This record gives sequence, structure tokens and C-alpha cells, in this order.
Amino acid sequence: MIRVWVTGGAGFIGSHLVRYLLETQPSLEIHTVDALTYAGNLHNLSDVLDHPRHKFHRIDIADRESIEPLWSQTKPKVIFHLAAESHVDRSILSPLDFVHTNIVGTATLLEVARRHWNGCSDVLFYQVSTDEVYGSLEGEEYFTEQSPYHPRSPYAASKAAADHLVRAYGHTYGIPYLISNCGNNYGPYQFPEKLIPLVITHLMERKPIPVYGNGLNVRDWIHVLDHVRAIALLAERGKRGRTYLIGAKNPRPNLEVVKLLCTLYDEMTGSRGSEALIRFVKDRPGHDFRYAIQPSTHLFELGWRPQVPFEEGLRQTIQWYLTHKEWLEAVRSGEYQRYYQLQYGDRF
Ligand code: NAD
Ligand code: TYD
Repeated sequence: MIRVWVTGGAGFIGSHLVRYLLETQPSLEIHTVDALTYAGNLHNLSDVLDHPRHKFHRIDIADRESIEPLWSQTKPKVIFHLAAESHVDRSILSPLDFVHTNIVGTATLLEVARRHWNGCSDVLFYQVSTDEVYGSLEGEEYFTEQSPYHPRSPYAASKAAADHLVRAYGHTYGIPYLISNCGNNYGPYQFPEKLIPLVITHLMERKPIPVYGNGLNVRDWIHVLDHVRAIALLAERGKRGRTYLIGAKNPRPNLEVVKLLCTLYDEMTGSRGSEALIRFVKDRPGHDFRYAIQPSTHLFELGWRPQVPFEEGLRQTIQWYLTHKEWLEAVRSGEYQRYYQLQYGDRF
């Protein structure tokens, strides 16, 4: 058995990755390492919690005293590092949480890896990162692997710092690593603070749908399973010490995405006039205008293709939220209500 860690495995992308690795790679024993913050949820892993090749560990990645003994006990060969504070709006409200997990947490994992992986070549530190590290595009351009880092939100800056630390540890101490930067994910189990699940839940509850600014900001969307398939493939066959860009070539203005969700929702549920719920509200401070990704050529050479067409993926996602109301209840606890009030209270 090869032991791997998935940090952040109880979050949105992490839980899909855990499930995918268990399904497709019988030689792996998966250890989910997750602090279960507001965004992490054991309900996301309910179908694999008792899997014989999966173990869950509730640990803060920045807490070296807990990470060290787990490392000695499990001796992982691969770290899929996804644990993070991941939401830009929250990073504007409380940036230090992002410094703690995304920077100190990543550095802590790297320190422990440096000690235990000294001289090892058959190991991998896989850093899951975001296109937001490259900043904001203006015209019709795309981010490429050569784009310089230019992070502009506390979230993006903390992820950029983490990416730099991974490269620095790779260069200085010889830790085999790989970094992939991906665009906006969507799909089941996404916490309803991000645009797509927020819009779906507001449609379900017939609440006003907040669109920041004029709705023309562009994000490049990819289904979470297409992202996870790319991560698994790159871990197996990607070049060590390289950065890959993962994207489905699907950049769209926010308003177009919101209107599409309204149309699909009406078709699927028999509701009418959902677009009338749209409200243009006060913009996000420092709101990046456009993200768009030119996916890495090598990823295509390895055989990866995005498989989920956007409209189909949105339909499946709407259907998932419609049939998982108990999940929504569970994740929208008191903490969510507090955040929601802070974020949207004076916007409508
Ligand atoms: P998420 O917010 O849904 O999940 C993050 C997980 O990390 C949660 O389970 C949380 O409990 C855990 N966590 C947070 N702080 C922790 C800590 N100190 N110690 C241990 N665990 C901790 O995030 P996501 O959307 O699944 O994103 C996962 C990764 O992918 C992140 O690194 C993010 O930067 C990156 N990413 C996300 C997107 C996206 O669109 N969501 C796009 C590109 C890259
Ligand atoms: P989000 O899902 O928060 O992801 P990110 O900021 O990491 O790209 O937001 C996606 C886009 O949607 C972004 O341009 C901000 C916008 N947005 C809204 O217009 N209204 C909202 O309520 C939210 C949460 C986001």
C-alpha cells in the first residue's frame, strides 16, 4: 500500500479527490488531514468514512506538534495539499486566517516533509493552487505558465506565498513537487458562499441574488471532477518541479452564469421569472476583472480533456442541491448566518 495524505480532504475539491482516488487507485491508502473549519464537513465524506483504505484525522496543518506524530505513524509518500482558507470575500474580512493556514500551514507541512523526505526521490508534494495568483486580466488575454505572479487579494497573496514556498523548498532541499493552478471549480458539495452554490440556494429559497458590480467580471469555470481527474493524472505522470495550468477554456461573465442558472432552474423546477431575483449590489473591494486560463499543453499530451460540458454540469449541480437539502441545513450553521449577515447585510 502507498500511503498518501489529502489535506483539506473534507472540503469541496478535497472530498471529490478522496473519493476519486479510492475508486480508481486500489494501491493507495488515503489519509484525510483536515481541521474541519466552517468549510470542512464530514458529511462531504460520509460515503467513504468507513472505507477500509481511508482514514480521517482532524488536525490543523499549521500545528506541527500534531502533524509530526501523524507523519511518523503514517509515513506518507504523497501529499496532496488542498487544505486552505479558500474564499476571497472572507479573506477581505479576516486576512490573518489566510496567513495562518495558507502560508504558515503550507510552511509547516514543508518543514516536516524536509525532515522526513531527506534524499527521497519517490515522493511528491503536490500543491493545489489557483489562477488567482496571476492577478487580473484586462482584454481577451489568457494566463499561461509564463504569466508572472501578481496576486491582488489577501487570498491570492496567501496562495502565491504558499506556491513560492513549495518551489523554494523544492529548489533548496530537493523535495519533489508539482504545482497546478486551476480556475473556478463548481459541482456538488461546494460551500454555499461561492457564486454558483450561493445562486442555486437563493433560487431555491426565492431570495434576491447578489451580483457584485455590473456583473461583467469574468471567471473561467471547470467542473470539480475534471479538476480532480487532472490532479490524479499529474500526480502519476506530470513532470516534477513543474507548474501546470488546469482549465476547461470556459471563461464567462458572472451575469451570463447567473442568468444561465436562472434559466436552467426554471426549466428544471417549473419555477418562473427567476431572473427577476437578480440584484446588482456593491462591488467586492479590489475585485479582479478577468481570469482565463490557457491550459498546459503537456496536460493534453498526457490525455486529459475536460469531460463535463458547462450546461450539463450546471444542471447536475442544481439537481444535487435540490436533492441534498439536509446537507445544506447542516453546513449553514450559526457561523454561516453570522458571515452572511456581515457580507450581505448592507448590500441589499
Ligand atoms: P474549501 O474551502 O471547500 O475546503 C478547504 C478545506 O481545508 C476544508 O475542509 C477545511 O476544513 C480545510 N482546512 C482549512 N484550514 C485548515 C487547517 N488550518 N488545517 C487543516 N485543514 C484546514 O476549499 P476548496 O474549494 O475545496 O479548495 C481546495 C484547494 O483548492 C484550496 O487550496 C484552494 O486554494 C484550491 N483551489 C480552489 C478552487 C475553487 O474554485 N474552489 C480553484 C483553484 C484552486
Ligand atoms: P467566487 O465564487 O467567490 O469565486 P472567486 O472570487 O474566487 O472567483 O466568485 C466568483 C465571481 O462571482 C467573482 O467575480 C465574484 C462574483 N460574486 C458575485 O457577484 N456575487 C456573490 O455573491 C459572490 C459570492 C460572488
